[in-house]
Amino acid sequence: MSATENKFQHNRSLFQNASPAILPSLLLCDFSNLEREVRQLEEAGVEVLHLDVMDGHFVPNLSYGMPIVESLRRITDLALDVHLMISEPAKYAMQFVQAGADAVTFHIEAMPTPQTLLEEIRATGVLSGLAINPSTDMARLRPFAEYCDMILIMSVEAGFGGQSFNPIALERLKEMKSTFGDRVLLEVDGGVNDATIHSCVSAGADLLVVGSALFRQADYCQAMTRLQAAMQ
Ligand code: DX5
Ligand code: ZN
Repeated sequence: MSATENKFQHNRSLFQNASPAILPSLLLCDFSNLEREVRQLEEAGVEVLHLDVMDGHFVPNLSYGMPIVESLRRITDLALDVHLMISEPAKYAMQFVQAGADAVTFHIEAMPTPQTLLEEIRATGVLSGLAINPSTDMARLRPFAEYCDMILIMSVEAGFGGQSFNPIALERLKEMKSTFGDRVLLEVDGGVNDATIHSCVSAGADLLVVGSALFRQADYCQAMTRLQAAMQ
């Protein structure tokens, strides 16, 4: 087996074994104390970090790019799940791979024919997948779902933390789970909290992205314990 195939298998089993996993979304965290935030998340038992990359064009918000991913790669062994909310994923995806991403998802709305990029990312050993907003018809994603290692079902319109959960995500999770079973990792993102997390897991979600339900709490360990209990 080649080094990239080894890396891919390692990443795939890491994400699969973590399922159902709570992935803190690094958007609402304290960036002035990023290493401290990461250490607290490690202590809280987090296995994967969700990194929200926004370009101020695909979404009306601007967050961060490769330098933050590189810095995180230097300070933690946690898996890095990079969510590209950018208009030109083909231009930047491989730079996020180089920066240390273990998984990269990009939006079908930004790339109507994503197959080549999905395969390019996977060929490096990094998991690749498509993300889709609630307002986008699933017909846009369906033809390419089989080329994905993971599918990110947005339960809010991409761009901001702290929004309300859109239950359309549950129908989409169920559809993808019944179509692909465990072959494709399912991720849900946006408005996931104590009240919505159980229905997400029941609908088939493997990866549960949580922003405000974690970062707006004083104690991350307590928040994680509460969310894990709510998942059961
Ligand atoms: C929104 C991001 C989400 C968001 C999650 O565009 O992709 O990851 O930060 O934050 P909450 O959990 O507060 O909705
Ligand atoms: Zn996200």
